[in-house]
Amino acid sequence: MPTPSMEDYLERIYRLIDEKGYARVSDIAEGLDVHPSSVTKMIQKLDKDNYLIYEKYRGLVLTHKGKRMGKRLVDRHHLLESFLQMIGVQEENIYRDVEGIEHHLSRDSITCIESLVEYFNRDVTRGDELRRIRAELDNE
Ligand code: CO
Repeated sequence: MPTPSMEDYLERIYRLIDEKGYARVSDIAEGLDVHPSSVTKMIQKLDKDNYLIYEKYRGLVLTHKGKRMGKRLVDRHHLLESFLQMIGVQEENIYRDVEGIEHHLSRDSITCIESLVEYFNRDVTRGDELRRIRAELDNE
């Protein structure tokens, strides 16, 4: 399993390639707010673990294993985003909070959150009820 930090890089690289077709060290560094030398170091580690292939002049290509892991990370990120949105977390807090928790949940917790999101999706009145309780608590 990749470490939390490797997950951050893989998620970022997967998104960049998905959006732009390529992932440059400078774009990865900017997205993660780290120094380019840290990116280079992590790229070597991800290469060694077969998540990607890095060639100095051709850039960086995700392997099958890297793509599969990247997709899983992005899907998980989206699930947690839906979860926080659903329970009423303010939009401006969502991205940062998801980045904070996503690497620290077990598969079990992720599956439970997935069923909870589904539970709320199946009947919109459930979300209304939740927001009503939230408003009550805010007024206490
Ligand atoms: Co994320």
